[in-house]
Amino acid sequence: MKKIFLETYGCQMNEYDSELVRGILTKDGYVFVQEETAADIVLLNTCAIREHAHRKVFGRIHKIRHKYKQRSNGDGDSLMIGVLGCMATNLRKDLLEDKALKIDFIAGPDSYKRLPGLIREAAGIGAKAFDTTLSEFETYSDVYPSRVQGVNAWVAVMRGCNNFCTFCVVPYTRGRERSRSVANVVEEVKRLAGEGFKQVTFLGQNVNSYSGEGGDFAALLEATSKVNGIERIRFTSPNPKDFPDDLLEVMANNPKVCKHIHLPLQSGNDRMLKLMDRFYTQKEFLDLVDKIRGYYPQMALTSDIIVGFSSETDEEFSDTAKVMQAVEFDAAFIFKYSERKGTIAERKFPDDVPEEKKTARIVQLVDMQKDISLKRNEAHIGDVCNVMIEETELTRSTDKFQGRTDGNKRVIVPAGAYGRGDFVKVKIQEATPHLLKGEYFYE
Ligand code: 5AD
Ligand code: SF4
Repeated sequence: MKKIFLETYGCQMNEYDSELVRGILTKDGYVFVQEETAADIVLLNTCAIREHAHRKVFGRIHKIRHKYKQRSNGDGDSLMIGVLGCMATNLRKDLLEDKALKIDFIAGPDSYKRLPGLIREAAGIGAKAFDTTLSEFETYSDVYPSRVQGVNAWVAVMRGCNNFCTFCVVPYTRGRERSRSVANVVEEVKRLAGEGFKQVTFLGQNVNSYSGEGGDFAALLEATSKVNGIERIRFTSPNPKDFPDDLLEVMANNPKVCKHIHLPLQSGNDRMLKLMDRFYTQKEFLDLVDKIRGYYPQMALTSDIIVGFSSETDEEFSDTAKVMQAVEFDAAFIFKYSERKGTIAERKFPDDVPEEKKTARIVQLVDMQKDISLKRNEAHIGDVCNVMIEETELTRSTDKFQGRTDGNKRVIVPAGAYGRGDFVKVKIQEATPHLLKGEYFYE
């Protein structure tokens, strides 16, 4: 039996795809190992979102080959290396042409069912095998992922993206939007409940534009919330353009749907938003935040921000800081703009903000957000929160457990007579910018 080592980069969708790949290849007779040194085949499920992500993978492939060569007395080539995921579609040519990399096969995000064939082909002919075709239909609804057992199960309910934000590579690496049917997702959620999962997180590049046979995203949340045993439903990543009232109503009123929305702002400046081809202005974004808080004042909000997009001036950048101050996100991921091959921005707008400026801007926003996150977290001190225990074996402190609130905040509690997936009431006593600490609360 051939042994495979699989390493995953990038977003949760990629984590999920790795579970699909494990499912597909296990069925074909492969076994998965925890150590790359024990493997005959190394698979890297890659990300192309920023330069940093893809540079990391190139470095990693060189290192794996080198290590293997040392171990096998010079014959580094008998180890097969396959590149999967977003870099596979985006950089196929570079990957195939780079002789030093010696990649054996490549499979894009819609080609994983062909993996057994691709591996056989590459092994048989000793040449590179690849398939990076994007599909309008592939949702893998007939593949059952081989999941890591835990409290949370990822479920991709839609794939692809039709938005074409000018900075983003995803529409090119993952193709057009397509959704699974409501019935198919409900069936999977039932099966997951049966396996003991307490939480599902619905995934999609544009998850709230889900539109499957049987309903829209609000309908999907309602339908899946009826499944016994599943206590929490989360989703990521939504787009601000797709928050109709009925979805906000479901989020506010359905106790199983977690009270957290990841709402990527990207920029707070109208000219930048237009250049990015986002579908909202600063005012529309702020109005949406007000509306969300009108439905549910305590809704946790997190965001993604890009600094230094093409031609962004100091003044335009300061609009982003202003919006972040006005909204007070619970947390925000802040990125320097990284030009990606094949995107609209690469073709139309120069990447002309100097690196030092991008760095100064990111540092400013990270500092500012840290204070905001601390303030938002401190506001919970004294609250009694409903916490689901997620980790009972923390590496750094053996006498602590970690859980999460409904709003997705990490909570550290003393170790207790509880297991993963148990719900406990916790009185919050301390806060940092990144987490809460508390004691069990008994009425
Ligand atoms: N450069 C920097 N950040 C990017 N993101 C997407 N594309 C780029 C890019 N080219 C960020 C966006 C998105 C998050 C997943 O990654 O903020 O929401
Ligand atoms: Fe990276 Fe985007 Fe692909 Fe996820 S979808 S792996 S974030 S490029």
